[in-house]
Amino acid sequence: MPPSSDVCAVLTAAGSGSRLGCELPKALVSLSGRPLLWWAARGLRAGGVGTIVVTAPASCIAEFRAAIDGLGDVLVVAGSDRSRQASVALGLAALGDRGADTVVLVHDAARPLTPPQVTARVIDAVRAGAGAVIPVLPVSDTLKTVDASGLVTGTPRRADLAAVQTPQGFRWDVLMRAHEAGASLGADEAVAATDDAGLVEAIGVAVHTVAGDERSLKVTRPLDLALARLLAGQEQAD
Ligand code: CTP
Ligand code: MG
Repeated sequence: MPPSSDVCAVLTAAGSGSRLGCELPKALVSLSGRPLLWWAARGLRAGGVGTIVVTAPASCIAEFRAAIDGLGDVLVVAGSDRSRQASVALGLAALGDRGADTVVLVHDAARPLTPPQVTARVIDAVRAGAGAVIPVLPVSDTLKTVDASGLVTGTPRRADLAAVQTPQGFRWDVLMRAHEAGASLGADEAVAATDDAGLVEAIGVAVHTVAGDERSLKVTRPLDLALARLLAGQEQAD
C-alpha cells in the first residue's frame, strides 16, 4: 500500500514502560537491532499512512527523532506524562490543519509488529463510511469482573467479548469531537480512556470492527518482549 496524503496517524510512545522494567523508555527498546518505535512507524507507512506524529517523553525528543530517521514524514512531539489519552490529544494538536478531512489512525508504539494488512483494513473501513473502526480478536481466556476486595462480581459471556488492538481509525471530525468531550471529563491516568474508541462510544458514535492479528501483540511485560523478539527474528529470516 503506497502512503496516502489523506491518511495520518498519531503514534503514541510517551509512556515509560514501567511494567516492562527496562532502563530505556519502552519505545526505544530494541527488537532485532531496531527500536520498537521504528518497527511501529515502518509498519504504519507500509499500511498506507502518510504523515505520522510520534508522541515522545518530553526529555527524549532527540533520541526519538534519531530512532525514526529515514522513515520520511514523521514528526516527533512531546506527549504527556499524565495519560495516554492526554498524549494522543497533544499528537492531534500537532497535526493541526494537516489532519483536517483525513482518515486519522491512533497506534501504539508498543505494538511494533502489526501487519500492514491490519492497518489497510482499518483505513478501508473508514473510507467506506465508518466514523470509527477498531481491529479485534476473539478472547481465549474467560474474563470476570472482580471488586476491590477480590470477590468475583460477574462473568460476561466470552462470545460477547473481543480483545482490542491498534491502529484504531477515525474520521478526523469524529476523533476531534470525542477527544474534546473526553478532555472535559479529565485526562489524568485515573479517569482517562485506555483507548480512543472508548471516547467515541461515549459521544454516541457507532464503532465498527475489523479483524485484528495475533502478531499485533502489545509489548507490555517481559514475556511479550521475548515473543516479539522471536517473531521479529523470524520476519527478518523470511
Ligand atoms: N503512552 C503515551 N503517553 C502516556 C502513556 C502511554 O503516549 N502518558 C503510550 C505508550 O508509549 C504506549 C501506549 O501509550 O505506546 C500504550 O501504553 P502502555 O502499553 O501502557 O505503555 P506504557 O505506559 O509505556 O507502559 P506502562 O503502563 O507499563 O508504564
Ligand atoms: Mg501505561
